[in-house]
Amino acid sequence: MREPIIIAPSILSADFARLGEDVRDVMAAGADWVHLDVMDGHFVPNITFGPAVIQALRPHSDKVFDCHLMIEPVDRFLESFAKAGCDIITVHAEATKHLDRSLQAIRSLGRKAGVSLNPHTPESVIEYVLDRLDLVLVMSVNPGFGGQAFIPAIVEKVRRIKAMIGNRPIVIEVDGGVTPETAPLLVKAGASVLVAGSAIFKGGKAEYCRNIAAIRSAGAD
Ligand code: DX5
Ligand code: ZN
Repeated sequence: MREPIIIAPSILSADFARLGEDVRDVMAAGADWVHLDVMDGHFVPNITFGPAVIQALRPHSDKVFDCHLMIEPVDRFLESFAKAGCDIITVHAEATKHLDRSLQAIRSLGRKAGVSLNPHTPESVIEYVLDRLDLVLVMSVNPGFGGQAFIPAIVEKVRRIKAMIGNRPIVIEVDGGVTPETAPLLVKAGASVLVAGSAIFKGGKAEYCRNIAAIRSAGAD
């Protein structure tokens, strides 16, 4: 039996002038996790927000805060993201020299540890850290911006990662260009967490519920 699909709206596509309200609205519309895209203008060509904003959002939802760190260096900031209230902390394999150490550090802060792979990064980079992982975040666009086109080759990559994971309790999350069209391919390949920014926030608050349901039901097909 397939795991239930988790829908994680990326608040990169939310209204930054009313983030707390938008988080409440999108979670009330049926989403499961809050996906937080942290960008530094160095590892990726865009800048978003840091731990202070996440801490301010924390009281707005009791759902899982899923933090995607696109920052380099990363290790020195892990503690502040844990203290800000992130439940899952994901680092990019390309942004840390010592991936094993970064993952150990996240778990020692009492948080779930994730690793993210850019589209060009082979899945073999996680082969020797599988026992330190709770989640693999597979990028299906180049990180930095919402609204980009899905890279089809990623479906096969998800399939390979699913095979590598075997029976280990590690979830596969896919991020970038997730829509009702791409969701079923990803879920069939082994993904159980779908991140979506533009496909969920498009049309404004009145559409959040319909947008989430469309991805969830397409993924369940
Ligand atoms: C990109 C971010 C994504 C992004 C996805 O670097 O990690 O979470 O917001 O946006 P969409 O769903 O619009 O591709
Ligand atoms: Zn993300």
